[in-house]
Amino acid sequence: MSAVPNTQRLLSDAAYARIDRETAKFPVERRQSAVMAALAIAQEEKGWVSPEVIADIAGYLGMPPIAVHEVASFYNMYDTKPVGRFKLAVCTCLPCALREGVAAGEYLKEKLGIDYNETTADGMFTLKESECLGSCADSPVMLVNNQRMCSFMGATEIDALIDELRSKA
Ligand code: FES
Repeated sequence: MSAVPNTQRLLSDAAYARIDRETAKFPVERRQSAVMAALAIAQEEKGWVSPEVIADIAGYLGMPPIAVHEVASFYNMYDTKPVGRFKLAVCTCLPCALREGVAAGEYLKEKLGIDYNETTADGMFTLKESECLGSCADSPVMLVNNQRMCSFMGATEIDALIDELRSKA
């Protein structure tokens, strides 16, 4: 367990065990280097990283909460506000914008009835604008829940994806 005392534990034992495996990759005095992995593990379990979870991770890694918050708020794969069950991040950076990336985002807005950074009323979908996902040649591209990359997302492909995700509800 943690080398740093922390009275309030918000994650499961399994999550802390995974964080321990990440911190073990670094010298003890550098356990903070596992902060990105710890945030990802926490988000996977909680759905988002609340201020309380950020404080918990900070305590666990021996860091000031503000330092963990800075990491969580800098990288757009971390959600510092609640999101829907499926987070759809559409790349609208210039290379994708030149190849229908913006149009894909607009189509999703229309289809889901939400704007960027909003969640559907049923809690199913949150729509985000993404920075470059490293797959510019496959535009339009989307990332589902930070893990599933979707390429060449025209209207037909978007319709199929939304139907597939809805069927998992
Ligand atoms: Fe969209 Fe690179 S600009 S993936």
